Amino acid sequence: MLTITDLYKTYRGAASPAVRGVSFEVPRGAMVSLLGPSGCGKTTTLRCVAGLETPDSGEIVLADRVLDSVSRGVSVPVHRRGLGMVFQSYAIWPHMSVLDNVRFPLQTLPRSEQVSRAEQIRRVEEALDLVQLGRFAGRRATDLSGGQQQRLALARALVGRPPLLLLDEPLSNLDARLRDEMRFELLRLQSELGITTVFVTHDQAEALALSDAIVLMNDGVIAQVGPPTELYRRPASRFVASFIGRTNLWDGDVLDEPGVDGLVTVGTALGPLRGVVGADGVRRGGPAVLACRPEQMAIEDIETADPRSPNAVEAVVKSSIFTGDAAESVLEAGRVELRVRHAPDNRHAPGDRVLVRFTPGDCIVLPSGAEADSTDGVPERELVG
Ligand SMILES: Nc1ncnc2c1ncn2[C@@H]1O[C@H](COP(=O)(O)OP(=O)(O)OP(=O)(O)O)[C@@H](O)[C@H]1O
Ligand SMILES: [Mg+2]
Repeated sequence: MLTITDLYKTYRGAASPAVRGVSFEVPRGAMVSLLGPSGCGKTTTLRCVAGLETPDSGEIVLADRVLDSVSRGVSVPVHRRGLGMVFQSYAIWPHMSVLDNVRFPLQTLPRSEQVSRAEQIRRVEEALDLVQLGRFAGRRATDLSGGQQQRLALARALVGRPPLLLLDEPLSNLDARLRDEMRFELLRLQSELGITTVFVTHDQAEALALSDAIVLMNDGVIAQVGPPTELYRRPASRFVASFIGRTNLWDGDVLDEPGVDGLVTVGTALGPLRGVVGADGVRRGGPAVLACRPEQMAIEDIETADPRSPNAVEAVVKSSIFTGDAAESVLEAGRVELRVRHAPDNRHAPGDRVLVRFTPGDCIVLPSGAEADSTDGVPERELVG
């Protein structure tokens, strides 16, 4: 549906490109998020798709229609792209009522897509209900709060049922509860109407909850593309492992060759630990990092534990915090920290000596060192889905 190929964008006066060689595809009807730390190039990528920025090079194609191609000299202007969008600085029309703001895109549809007045009102009401602004229809747009204006911008972007919806942090000004509600409403409408959506967020919980696929960016390049579960369970680099969710990372050296089971041993400050090779570049004698999620680890009594089992570490409980549905404990083995997430009724108290155990199959071994930790050298093209 949407194909971005080798996109580069350098801002005027900038020493290096804000986006360097970004390629990914968004299938029809999919919800794909651009995720990454502040300044990594999410908004720049989205603005290029919207036509608000001109790429230095690369191609943007929407369902066989070339929107941008520097080599072919094509650049479709913003208003001809027919996309729905909400940007960080959402522009509402201050001189219009809430209702007229949302209705405006329907009054400017191309002739072939025009709808009756009754249908316009029906769609406007639907969109306003979606964002919970139905009762404000008659108000001036400027008499809304920041969060309400943001929702108004979202309703306006959705109402024309665009082939592609571009959202840049569309829920950032909402309180936690409303944001949660809107997430699910947005997902419902998006899948009901089958609107292909690309949305930017730096909130990984939002990306994990909403996306069919996540495009994780770092410093202008793509670090990994894939479904949320894949980025979470099979991170391709230290950056991905540490950016998505919380994880324990222990550095060391690879002690053996991968076995038929795909496992290698990494000599770490905790002793030798076994894990699954998660990416190219893990070789015997080379530096590596072993990653394990706190919820993949269990705290056991030392006396009852089997001393022969792999990936069992003696540690002292330092602190525990109760998070409602679970608890998280920080433990120390020597000077190395371990974080474990477990059932809230765990009986171990600070000061207790325990055994922390984790299954080799739940640990990912990733290459480490300067070369591996730079995000350069990612594959030419990343496929979503
Ligand atoms: N108009 C501009 N002129 C010059 N540099 C810019 C401009 N807009 C963005 N940049 C720079 O380009 C880089 C990428 O910015 P971008 O806005 O795409 O980041 P982002 O991933 O959306 O970050 P955030 O999460 O903070 O919104 C940053 O280093 C930023 O400083
Ligand atoms: Mg941004």
